[in-house]
Amino acid sequence: MATVRDAVGGVQSVLVLGGGSDLALATVRRMVADRCHTVVLAARHPDRLEGELAALRGAGAATAESVSFDADDVTSHQKVVDDVFARHGDIDLVLLAFGVLGDQDNFDHDPVAAAAAATTNFVGGVSAGLAVAGQLRAQGHGTLVVFSSVAGVRVRADNLVYGATKAGLDGFASGLSDRLAGTGARVMVVRPGFVHSKMTDGMDPAPFATTPEAVADAVLDGLRRGSEVVWAPPALRLVFGVLRLVPRPVWRRLSAR
Ligand SMILES: NC(=O)c1ccc[n+]([C@@H]2O[C@H](COP(=O)([O-])OP(=O)(O)OC[C@H]3O[C@@H](n4cnc5c(N)ncnc54)[C@H](OP(=O)(O)O)[C@@H]3O)[C@@H](O)[C@H]2O)c1
Repeated sequence: MATVRDAVGGVQSVLVLGGGSDLALATVRRMVADRCHTVVLAARHPDRLEGELAALRGAGAATAESVSFDADDVTSHQKVVDDVFARHGDIDLVLLAFGVLGDQDNFDHDPVAAAAAATTNFVGGVSAGLAVAGQLRAQGHGTLVVFSSVAGVRVRADNLVYGATKAGLDGFASGLSDRLAGTGARVMVVRPGFVHSKMTDGMDPAPFATTPEAVADAVLDGLRRGSEVVWAPPALRLVFGVLRLVPRPVWRRLSAR
């Protein structure tokens, strides 16, 4: 089937893996306002998204549905993704948005919980990402947007497990982007800093804290430009360019709690 991007390049169909994500939903709302007509939210509890789906239909989406998806159940990923592509024929954009933050103080004493977070954030991302990549390659177009994090750019001692999972996911997504070169399918890596969302509820904001709506704007801008990496807010690119170079003993002091 031919590409369904409209004449001005807008996204017309989107699948979200981690369909309840505040960052992904803010992005999808922007896309529906911009004439995206098909939305599939894949989530652990699809029934909890009825209100969101109704709002998306009210905002103009012709099709807005939820399907069951568990990032930890890697054996199910190919089928979930294949079913969505088979039912809708063509998907312009897939947001890989699931993730858990966890608490490093707990992880220090609970390696099993740490491994579970790594399974969700990294192992699930690898499996779901490859399932999506196969479909995008087959249709010859489309973009996979992977929500990484600045936490993976230089891993902090006080956020060790989460940061390491994001470093792994970021590396996977960047390599996948190279592997898909020339196929028409693309990967865009998004590296937000601290964003006010369910994930960070009750936490003290970090410097450069931002909103899901601002991240959505950065994602849409990145898609329009054909960017491979998006920082949200954009100033974090420069900040982390410097932080990457900070000598290890200084970084150790900065990132310990
Ligand atoms: N918020 C930030 O400051 C920030 C910064 C940098 C990067 N990020 C990344 O951006 C992405 C979106 O984060 P967010 O802020 O939108 O957080 P969020 O609102 O908490 O969304 C995360 C979503 O992941 C889903 N999820 C967790 N485990 C899952 C599993 N096993 N299977 C399926 N879904 C699962 C959650 O589902 P339930 O609704 O069922 O819990 C939730 O809907 C995440 O990858 C996060 O790591 C966030």
